[in-house]
Amino acid sequence: MSYMRLKDRAAIVTGAASGIGRATAQLFAEEGASVLAVDIPSSALLATFDGVANVTPLALSIIDDGAPARIVGEAIARFGRLDILMNNAGVSGRQFVDEIKDEDWDRIMAVNVTAQMKLARAAIPHLRKAPSARIINVASVMAEGTDLGLAAYCASKAGVAGLTRTLALELGRDNITANYLLPGAIKTGMTSPLWDARPDVADIWAKKSPLRRVGQPIDLARAALFLASDEAAFITGHGLNVDGGLMLRV
Ligand SMILES: NC(=O)c1ccc[n+]([C@@H]2O[C@H](COP(=O)([O-])OP(=O)(O)OC[C@H]3O[C@@H](n4cnc5c(N)ncnc54)[C@H](O)[C@@H]3O)[C@@H](O)[C@H]2O)c1
Repeated sequence: MSYMRLKDRAAIVTGAASGIGRATAQLFAEEGASVLAVDIPSSALLATFDGVANVTPLALSIIDDGAPARIVGEAIARFGRLDILMNNAGVSGRQFVDEIKDEDWDRIMAVNVTAQMKLARAAIPHLRKAPSARIINVASVMAEGTDLGLAAYCASKAGVAGLTRTLALELGRDNITANYLLPGAIKTGMTSPLWDARPDVADIWAKKSPLRRVGQPIDLARAALFLASDEAAFITGHGLNVDGGLMLRV
C-alpha cells in the first residue's frame, strides 16, 4: 500500500537495473517520487522500467567522464528539482592483497566510493534548493567487518561511511541529511550467481542471521524509503544496518 510519502519529490537512484537499486526506484516511484533510474547501458535498465510510471531510465555508467553532471542535469531537465540522491551502484571483487591488480582496485574504488562523492558534489547545489533534501549512500556490513579477499570492497565501503559522515556535517546547515545503509547478505544480482549454484552457501548466510533468512532487495528499499521520508528528518550521519542481525555475533 502506498502512502505517497515521497509525493512531489524528485530522486536519482543509481544501479537501478537490479537488486536493491531496482527495488528502491520502484518503491520511491510508488510512493509518489519522480525517479531518474541510472545503470550501465549493458544492463536490463530499459526493459525493467519500460512503461513504469514515474521512472525515467538513463543508461549511463556513473564512472564515465562527465557522468555526474549529465545525471544531475538530466534530473533537473526532467523534473525541475532534486530532493533525493540514492548512491546505490556498486561492484564487488575478490583478490588477496598480494594479488590485487591496480585496475581492479581502481575500478572498485571508482564505482563504490569516488562516484558517490562526485554525484553528491554535482547534486549539492540543487539539493540546497530543496526544502528537506536527502543523500542516501549504500555501504555494506563490510564497511565494519571483512572477509578474505575483500580488501578493495571493504576499503571502498569504509570510505562510503567516512564520506557520508562528512557530508552530513557539511550539509546540515542546508537541511540536507546524509545517511548510509549497511546491507547484510541480500539476494541480488551480486549474490545470486553464487547462491543459485551453491544453495548451501546461501544457507550459511541465512543461518548467520538471527532472523534465519537472507535479505531481499525490498528490505533495503524500505529502509531507504524511511531515510528519504519526512519521518527521518532529524537523522543524519547515521549508518543503518539492514542485515537481519548478521553482525551481532562476534
Ligand atoms: N547483495 C548484497 O549482499 C550486498 C551486501 C552489502 C552491500 N551491497 C551493496 O548494495 C548495492 C547494490 O548492489 P546489489 O546487491 O543490489 O547488486 P546488483 O548487482 O543486483 O546491483 C548493482 C547494480 O549496480 C550497477 N552498476 C555497477 N556499476 C555501475 C556503473 N559504473 N554505473 C552505473 N551502474 C552500475 C549494476 O549494473 C547493477 O545493476 C551495492 O553498492 C552493493 O555493494 C550489497
